Amino acid sequence: MSATDAEIVPILVSTTVDCQVHCTSALRADEESDGSSSDDIRLVPDVTFEPVPDSPGINRESQPLLGTIDVTYNHFPDDPLFNDLVSNAETAIDNGIYPERISQGSSGSYFVKNPEAKIIGVFKPKDEEPYGRLNPKWTKWMHKLCCPCCFGRSCLIPNQGYLSEAAASLVDTKLDLNIVPKTRVVKLVSETFNYPRIDRQKARIKRSIMEQFPNVGLRFNRIGLPPKSGSFQVYVDGFKDADHWLRRFEAEPLPAWMAQKFQLQFERLVVLDYIIRNTDRGNDNWLIKYDQPQIVTTTTNNGGGAATTGAVRGGAVATQVGLHGNTNGSLKNISRHVDLVDTTDWNLVQLPQIRIAAIDNGLAFPYKHPDSWRGYPYHWAWLPQAKVPFSREIRDLVLPHLGDMNFVQDLCDDLHLLFKQDKGFDKGLFERQMSVMRGQILNLTQALRDGKSPVQLVQMPAVVVEKSQGQHTSRFFNFTQRFQDKSPFFSWC
Ligand SMILES: Nc1ncnc2c1ncn2[C@@H]1O[C@H](COP(=O)(O)OP(=O)(O)O)[C@@H](O)[C@H]1O
Ligand SMILES: [Mg+2]
Repeated sequence: MSATDAEIVPILVSTTVDCQVHCTSALRADEESDGSSSDDIRLVPDVTFEPVPDSPGINRESQPLLGTIDVTYNHFPDDPLFNDLVSNAETAIDNGIYPERISQGSSGSYFVKNPEAKIIGVFKPKDEEPYGRLNPKWTKWMHKLCCPCCFGRSCLIPNQGYLSEAAASLVDTKLDLNIVPKTRVVKLVSETFNYPRIDRQKARIKRSIMEQFPNVGLRFNRIGLPPKSGSFQVYVDGFKDADHWLRRFEAEPLPAWMAQKFQLQFERLVVLDYIIRNTDRGNDNWLIKYDQPQIVTTTTNNGGGAATTGAVRGGAVATQVGLHGNTNGSLKNISRHVDLVDTTDWNLVQLPQIRIAAIDNGLAFPYKHPDSWRGYPYHWAWLPQAKVPFSREIRDLVLPHLGDMNFVQDLCDDLHLLFKQDKGFDKGLFERQMSVMRGQILNLTQALRDGKSPVQLVQMPAVVVEKSQGQHTSRFFNFTQRFQDKSPFFSWC
């Protein structure tokens, strides 16, 4: 959108701290200057890799052999659970248990396994993304070749889907939404990934030289195939595509209290998608887990090992498994309780659970609002749940954060750290992505305060909140709110 078709509304008049981010925003100026003046997107160079910032000085080029992975490479000291998961995946690959390509979808995505061959993650290499150079799904490649005018989504930075995946997880964690399975940028190497023939030939030749002339071989920087950067998302068990359950719920409506639980989860999905301006939230790109009520009669011994499921006499306990691969303490407490009681017949009553997992977040964080809402609607907006005003629970969860300008700036700073690791990172485009996101946060904050519903939210006019140039002191930025002079992205029809 050009400046001429927008209404310019300066929204910051002073740098006094007023936590209403939507009307007065004064943010830290310890970043780079705004480079967003150009409206033309510079096409980002195709696939190239750089060491990620959390492994400074480490050169993966010197990894000795295929599958022998330098453990310092994928290192997440702030997240031991995720760290262990990735290290399990590396061990599995070392032992010949390779990631397996997922047949559905439009890109090269892989189920990653642990040494017991159990699926533990979903890895999406940057260079196998829908428009990445090595995307194994040829139809997409043909589409790009034959129809360049329709190439991808023009509002998104091409070939940075892996960052968008990790960034969605970051937003989820910061807002405590707990609906995105933990996703971070990881490097993996596997024979099953799509490599150009030349890479495979080079690896073969070097390996045979290494075997025959070890002294010469020692001079090679790397023997095996090159590692690929991509997003690694924790695999969530027991979930099915939302489509499946939504159809079931139409035929067999949920009990009222369960429908209420679902509503609260649904609102978290709306908050996430709206903030990141997801352009690809079809009902195949979120998952639902619904454990229907079950009553099983069984016998257990005092202190015996059988009573490990959630059960108490005459009551019911639901065990809660987080999306980040961790279980809460309820299971332990239950076992302790069970140990204290006599041998008896038990009614194992499993409270039904309903959970949402927001997967496939690679087509979000646009640098401008899509030109037409029709192309990229939020498909959940057609669900009956979208007509219900936002609950007090979601307001209490996110409004204190979203209404705090320091929180919003921290979020932008964290996203900057993540996005800048891409070789094609462009400061100006990043600023524009953040302007769109701030605009979304502004609308969402207002909608939550006004008690609107998700449908009313998506009907609000699109806004960008940009840093104003040249009006800031050394510590604070001014912001300008700009309305898109176009119809809203969604209308109920
Ligand atoms: N984190 C996950 N946990 C469980 N299943 C997943 C997860 N991510 C993806 N899947 C499964 O893999 C399928 C394809 O994943 P998706 O992320 O949609 O890939 P694509 O980008 O190729 O569309 C999904 O429809 C879902 O069934
Ligand atoms: Mg998908």
